[in-house]
Amino acid sequence: MKNIAIICSGGDVSGMNPALKHFVEYSIEKGLKPFFVYHGYEGLIDNNIKEVTYKDVSGIINRGGTIIGSARSMRFKEAKYRQIAKDNLDALGIDMLVVLGGDGSFRGLDIFYQEHGIKFCGIPATIDNDINGTEYALGVDTALNIIKTSIDAIRDTASSFRRAFVVETMGRDCGYLALVSHLTSGSELCLIPEKKYDLKDYEDRFKQEIKDGRGYFIAIVSEGIKQKSSEIAEWFEKTIGIESRVTVLGHIQRGGNPTIYDRLMAYKFVAKAIDGLLNSIDSSVVCYTKKGFEYKSISEVTSQVKQLDEELLVLI
Ligand code: F6P
Repeated sequence: MKNIAIICSGGDVSGMNPALKHFVEYSIEKGLKPFFVYHGYEGLIDNNIKEVTYKDVSGIINRGGTIIGSARSMRFKEAKYRQIAKDNLDALGIDMLVVLGGDGSFRGLDIFYQEHGIKFCGIPATIDNDINGTEYALGVDTALNIIKTSIDAIRDTASSFRRAFVVETMGRDCGYLALVSHLTSGSELCLIPEKKYDLKDYEDRFKQEIKDGRGYFIAIVSEGIKQKSSEIAEWFEKTIGIESRVTVLGHIQRGGNPTIYDRLMAYKFVAKAIDGLLNSIDSSVVCYTKKGFEYKSISEVTSQVKQLDEELLVLI
């Protein structure tokens, strides 16, 4: 019987727990012995690795976060700790890993594969949706739904009080969450790192709209833009002439119970990852593209910055 382990690395997302559940079920179905590695690559180094069964994943499909924990490991960047990780895996007879994470996590694991031959398949999992080569990363849909609910609530108070609300979304250097949230919430302004802007371009229109009776504004700004959200709020107050508030959505975007889409995608990603490893695709990332699921090399996924879909960009 072959042994296989799963790891969550980097920022947690909703959808990791459904993925863990299906990992156990699908591994057993395929005649593999499943293991969990706790707290990211730190668990590989600290030998925090446990064989699991169906019992370990009952009642988790609806829970956000990850029951095995996640981490950003600095130690795994050092060869001496990767050697310890390899020894720990050898002792348990594990030579296949499934990793849920972002491109940084995949890069680390590729080095591990080159050095020690531990096969792996990456599953894109980050609310930022910033991984090149995949249209979708696990957790994005749940994050978008949390943002949607938050903006709907902000709209209630903004419209009651005649105010401008600057809503800051996560995404690191990628504006995907802000862009899609803007398009699907009917906000008045969207600022993202991928698109140059000059607030002056909005001045006349916004002032005129107030004269014409507009009572409130919602601006969605991505955390990666050069200006602070408070500066955008100040611009609304001083230049546009409307009282303003900032709402930083922060880590609530990473939690919440996984949507149906994320639960389904978790199942599909995991099955594809295990199938890939069983079919001798030894070092890859399962990507979801317009053509469906594809295995891509680490270099393809990590060598370029993801470009936002033009179909979406032209809409703002
Ligand atoms: O990569 C996911 C993410 O949530 C980013 O959107 C955000 O910039 C960052 O992680 C926050 O990191 P931390 O949880 O370490 O504060």
